[in-house]
Amino acid sequence: MTTDTGLDEMRSWLLTEHHETVDPARLGHVRAELERVVRDGVPGPVAELGCYRGAMTLWMRAVLDACGDDRAIHVFDSFEGLPDTTEEDEIVMPSGVFACSPDDLLAAFDTWGRRRPEVHPGWFDSTLRDQLPDRIAFGYLDGDLYASTLVSLTECVPRLAPGGALIIDDYTDPAAGPDTIAPFPGVKAACDAYFEGRSPVETLPGDVAYGRLRRERG
Ligand SMILES: C[S@@+](CC[C@H](N)C(=O)[O-])C[C@H]1O[C@@H](n2cnc3c(N)ncnc32)[C@H](O)[C@@H]1O
Repeated sequence: MTTDTGLDEMRSWLLTEHHETVDPARLGHVRAELERVVRDGVPGPVAELGCYRGAMTLWMRAVLDACGDDRAIHVFDSFEGLPDTTEEDEIVMPSGVFACSPDDLLAAFDTWGRRRPEVHPGWFDSTLRDQLPDRIAFGYLDGDLYASTLVSLTECVPRLAPGGALIIDDYTDPAAGPDTIAPFPGVKAACDAYFEGRSPVETLPGDVAYGRLRRERG
């Protein structure tokens, strides 16, 4: 669907400069789902919850641009890094990992000559309810932790347009296979808690794992 050869150049740059947070599978899944959303004419902006230095934000902008689609992207992050882990995370990590500045993110957009996203700094539980658009077509949820994922689902799922989708990073279902790596078990635990055990999140293949939630057109 896309024709912009600039995507290949950006993909190579992202895989070199941002290999900490993006990989070929992540980029491929997000591109495919975003292109489908555009192709299906799903209305509403795009949101990223946990944008860090903007690697995936830039990729989503480039994919939309290549589709000739000028819808806005809204990004949310504390810019203070991850909050404290909780018991549901089943891991212990120091808070503050992934701290950065909105200027880091915006500089990358300027360098690539792309339209800047709408940046919403702050903790999800202080920003999402009032600042997330009423309707979204596509969301990339990348908050890594249980509480961050739970509040992301709470605010995103009811706002998802018919035909829209969420890609949930680090959603790892151990039932997918014995070799499955689950660096952030709290992400799936939050999905299971939100959907009360009847989670419609599908597992997508990749080096780590990703979940996809589509809202039927109904
Ligand atoms: C793995 S990084 C995101 C990587 C990014 N999506 C990318 O593609 O490069 C996770 C981000 O989520 C943010 N985050 C996690 N929980 C949060 C919360 N409750 N409120 C705000 N930001 C949060 C962290 O600050 C961090 O920048």
